[in-house]
Amino acid sequence: MLLTREEMTFPFGDAKLDPNRDRELLEWMFNQFLYGEVTGIQVGHWLYHAPDLEAAKFLARQSLEEMQHVDNFLRIMTMLGCQPKPAHPAVRFLATGMMGGSWAEHVALEMAQGEGFVLQAFYAVIDTLDHKPTIDILRRAVKQEERHVEFGEQQTAKAIEGRAWLRRRLLGLSLVSMWGVRRIANYMKKRLPADHVVLKHLPAFLEHANQCAALRLRRIGVLDRPLEEVGGGKRALLVAEAYGGKLLGGLVALITLPFRLLPWWKKKRVTDTYLRDPHITGYQLPTPEMDRATAQPQE
Ligand SMILES: [Fe+2]
Ligand SMILES: [Fe+2]
Repeated sequence: MLLTREEMTFPFGDAKLDPNRDRELLEWMFNQFLYGEVTGIQVGHWLYHAPDLEAAKFLARQSLEEMQHVDNFLRIMTMLGCQPKPAHPAVRFLATGMMGGSWAEHVALEMAQGEGFVLQAFYAVIDTLDHKPTIDILRRAVKQEERHVEFGEQQTAKAIEGRAWLRRRLLGLSLVSMWGVRRIANYMKKRLPADHVVLKHLPAFLEHANQCAALRLRRIGVLDRPLEEVGGGKRALLVAEAYGGKLLGGLVALITLPFRLLPWWKKKRVTDTYLRDPHITGYQLPTPEMDRATAQPQE
């Protein structure tokens, strides 16, 4: 990865999340993660669009890992007494609404940037949650997420080689996802207690996450200078340019919207139905025997 664990770590100090006192917060947080992992079904789409066999093999493995992560979160939530509930609209927008329109957009926005952000949130939970069984599961999962981010970084660098227009476009789209992170920060600031030992750090943590995202863009080569040196007007232009390319698609989407809203027209995906899926509604903790039988070699 282009950023180290140390660079991505936020200094929470001794502040700890308590599984009992903070159950409501943990339930909210793990439901966002659960949704994020369910969006792993999109990997199937990108497997079909992989540029070469090596990338296809990577994605085939990733799809399995993401589906295992769904079970990881079901397991964590069951252990902590948390219920599966819908994810916040901003999270759904970042994870599904921003789904890339091309291979370059996928590897840059969803893998390097999006999974980089999720990885940082996993690190934060590992550093603060006072519940060893959860930490053990997350420690294994982050090794896989680190590989997903690294693949995103490498593939993005390859895609932008000699294509300045693509660099600008990916930067414009990245600015929108950073804006999405700020939206989540504002929502949390309003909804969560400001005097909480861990939560009081949240706005600074999300700011740090955005700084890491900018640093990653710089190291990949999408940004050729520190983000602070890109002024407000220039940023607005980059966003407008990036979305200008999507204008035609947006018009078609707008015209066909009434049809697509009809229940019989709209194709339901697992990201729409997972909360009523028997795998989730009937989830039970695996027995030690089941664990041994399904144990995957972890690196
Ligand atoms: Fe995952
Ligand atoms: Fe991942």
